[in-house]
Amino acid sequence: MCGIVGYIGRRAAAPIIIKGLEKLEYRGYDSFGVATLGRGIEIFKHQGRIAKNAHSAVRLNGTIGIGHTRWATHGVPNNANAHPHTDCKNRIAIVHNGIIENYAKLKRELSARGHRFLSETDTEVVAHLIEEKYTGNLFSAVQETVPQLQGSFALLVISAEEQRIIAARNASPLVIGIGDREFFAASDMTPILEYTERAIFLEDGDIADLTCEAVEIFHGTKTVTRPVELIDWSVEDTKKGGFSHYMLKEIYEQPQAFYNSLRALDPETLPAIAAKPSSVTIVACGSSYHAGLIFKYLLEETCGIPARLEFASEFKYFPPPVSGLVICITQSGETADTLTALKQAKARNCPTLAITNVLGSSISRVADATIFMRAGPEISVAATKSFIAQLAVSMQIINIFAGEHDTKMLLHAHRAIEEILLKDLSDAVSVCKKAQSIFYVGRGPFYPVCLEGALKMKEISYIHAEGYAAGELKHGPFALLSKDTPVIAICMPDSTYEVMISNIKEIKARSAPVIALGMEGDSDLADVADIFITLPDTHRFVQILTSLVVLQLLAYHTAVVLDRDVDKPRNLAKSVTVE
Ligand code: AGP
Repeated sequence: MCGIVGYIGRRAAAPIIIKGLEKLEYRGYDSFGVATLGRGIEIFKHQGRIAKNAHSAVRLNGTIGIGHTRWATHGVPNNANAHPHTDCKNRIAIVHNGIIENYAKLKRELSARGHRFLSETDTEVVAHLIEEKYTGNLFSAVQETVPQLQGSFALLVISAEEQRIIAARNASPLVIGIGDREFFAASDMTPILEYTERAIFLEDGDIADLTCEAVEIFHGTKTVTRPVELIDWSVEDTKKGGFSHYMLKEIYEQPQAFYNSLRALDPETLPAIAAKPSSVTIVACGSSYHAGLIFKYLLEETCGIPARLEFASEFKYFPPPVSGLVICITQSGETADTLTALKQAKARNCPTLAITNVLGSSISRVADATIFMRAGPEISVAATKSFIAQLAVSMQIINIFAGEHDTKMLLHAHRAIEEILLKDLSDAVSVCKKAQSIFYVGRGPFYPVCLEGALKMKEISYIHAEGYAAGELKHGPFALLSKDTPVIAICMPDSTYEVMISNIKEIKARSAPVIALGMEGDSDLADVADIFITLPDTHRFVQILTSLVVLQLLAYHTAVVLDRDVDKPRNLAKSVTVE
């Protein structure tokens, strides 16, 4: 996810754009850039945070300009890959939020026609496509270019010869601010609110022509009228897209995050190093460790590949005898324990693969190969969409190893997740918020789902919670069960169903209330549980996702009811860069 800003009007554009980009850094911040119409197209762009180089960017001339703050998806964070990007003649400049999925083919074709590329980005191909169509009418050139693009884009385009900004939207947000003889364009209202509350939200397929006098919007070749809305959000609200917390926003972004991450990896892009290994050692911490444990269960269950999982913090001091592929899973790519473990694995000549959300992160510079999750920035300390993205990559790898090219069931998984987002969990929240301790029990890959659900509850509601392999509870923890220790049991229609029903009955015999997650229509489970949360009847992989999202939401709503600092829980940090 990146942030884009455009300005056209009667004031100097660069300072307004820089200020707007600073408000969008929550969308991405590894590099930034601005282009204005001054003496021709003037550009300043640089790796790193805006504050470090804003003083250079604000000097750009002109009252028309576009800007970008980046979350790298194609090409590591550096000056060349920062936006804006231009055509061969520096007559056209463009900024983009989204992913052009067919950029590699377009780039090959453009290169064959003599275009020279300065970056590794997908975005740059769009500048050269517009160049080929440009005959002095920027709107027409963009209008003819857009149909060639596959994927998501919010584009802002300027040309040295015209006093206008062209804005185009498909699957990435783009809003137009209506000021007094000035107009704004941005990824959301955050950069616009201080100038105007009047906004037009472009729709997919819209192309807008912004001049100093007016905004004209086209859909295809037809002029359309979009309603001007009055936005009374606070700036903070707009960063959260109207959600109360980043965590809830990121939970709701999971359908898209899962879909994007799934499509981030296909058989062609799986690093050669990962070609169906004889064995796998997965190393990670925290939630990433739980994702790794799910990966392990599914690897062994689906592909018969022996897999072991190690805590990164243990790996350094008690290194296991590993020789095959070592996979390090880390959302931030900066977790000290995981980095250390990876370096150790390399020192022992193990091939190493990193799965991370941050291109250019430390782990991606050390591992032999990196798979990028493309979940977009995750602001809340609690991992949610990055976790789902780790599962998407893991499941896709498993499909590739298993020779399963029918990934349709995964491509529709986002719909099942969307269904869960609508569930009312108030009864379960009422039970959990009063609990002394909460136990989560499951078997097979649902055991790590329980570990992750318990971690979410612990880290944001501060209620003690523990995930257990369901069969383990009777070996001691039963002593802790009482009416004040609810047990969340995941009971799926697999080979463990009957024994799970028995476990639930044993738990209830010790007065503990049971909140069960199971398939809709499972009347036996409904009879035995105190609260029954139903999941859509889907593929096993998708059952893992939907049960997980229920537990994320349960932790979130319990924390909110207890008035916790959901996005910044006490004592925690988003990335643990110390041992
Ligand atoms: C999970 O909600 C926590 N934020 C924490 O356990 C986190 O997963 C862990 O620190 C690992 O972080 P990483 O994925 O960036 O390596």
